[in-house]
Amino acid sequence: VSEALLPAAVGSAPIGVFDSGVGGLTVLKALCAQLPGESFVYLGDTARLPYGTKSAATVTRYSLKAAEALAEYGVKCLVIACNTVSAFALPAIRERAGAVPVVGVIEPGAEAACSASRSGHIAVIATEGTVRRGAYQAAILKLRSHARVSAQPAALLVALAEEGLCSGPIAEAVARHYLAPLFREDLPGGPPDTLVLGCTHFPMLSDAIRAVLTPQVSIVDSATTTAAQVHSALKAAQLLRPAGAAQDNGAPAVRFLATDDAGRFARVGSRFLQRPIASGEVELVDL
Ligand code: DGL
Repeated sequence: VSEALLPAAVGSAPIGVFDSGVGGLTVLKALCAQLPGESFVYLGDTARLPYGTKSAATVTRYSLKAAEALAEYGVKCLVIACNTVSAFALPAIRERAGAVPVVGVIEPGAEAACSASRSGHIAVIATEGTVRRGAYQAAILKLRSHARVSAQPAALLVALAEEGLCSGPIAEAVARHYLAPLFREDLPGGPPDTLVLGCTHFPMLSDAIRAVLTPQVSIVDSATTTAAQVHSALKAAQLLRPAGAAQDNGAPAVRFLATDDAGRFARVGSRFLQRPIASGEVELVDL
């Protein structure tokens, strides 16, 4: 049994957030909104992304390195903002994390989907790895055993979100390419009534996705529910900081770490976080 990676936490410690790149900033945004008193260390493994096309062994190896790097900052909780890492490596990270809570995004996303769906027929779009692992399928069926889950890898949407092509004809054509087969009217039992955006990048494309679906379909992602789970985990452990405790110009303090190209992280990341990030704010780290 390996030694625990993270020491016992204190309330004033930051929350560690890990993603393969900038996508997890959509989750960080929700965390900052729901946990305004906290400070955060966000690590994007920009040197090794994408994770979504890699094997379970590789994703797990990279993720343990990243968790180790965040442990150096004395984090009191680790949020795995990446769906692919949550799908493949959560048990390995939890095993190493000792008493420090580790919150992934798949269970919260499944919870959001189950509360939104009336029919129990739920569609999921995610990376190839997340779909292949059957992570959302399993998490949804655990909460709702009679649910029907149709999952589809949608790799091109990751590239579109990073290119800033989030709405308009190209984004809608690609969204339609992936979603049309999932939402066919002639499916036995009818089309799904809920779509899970099972990848950090997809909330960026929600306008294009909305445009190709009927208004009856609920679109859910993990960010808000994940932030709510982190809130409850910290509250239960008496580690929650009151609003205002770690504020930096009215917003929670965030330290950005990346493994490659601070400039690109800042430029693309500013869109994902919906606030400016200066490249000088991004520290390069080696894993
Ligand atoms: N962050 C990844 C996820 O949510 C998407 C990008 C990647 O493939 O690295 O699965």
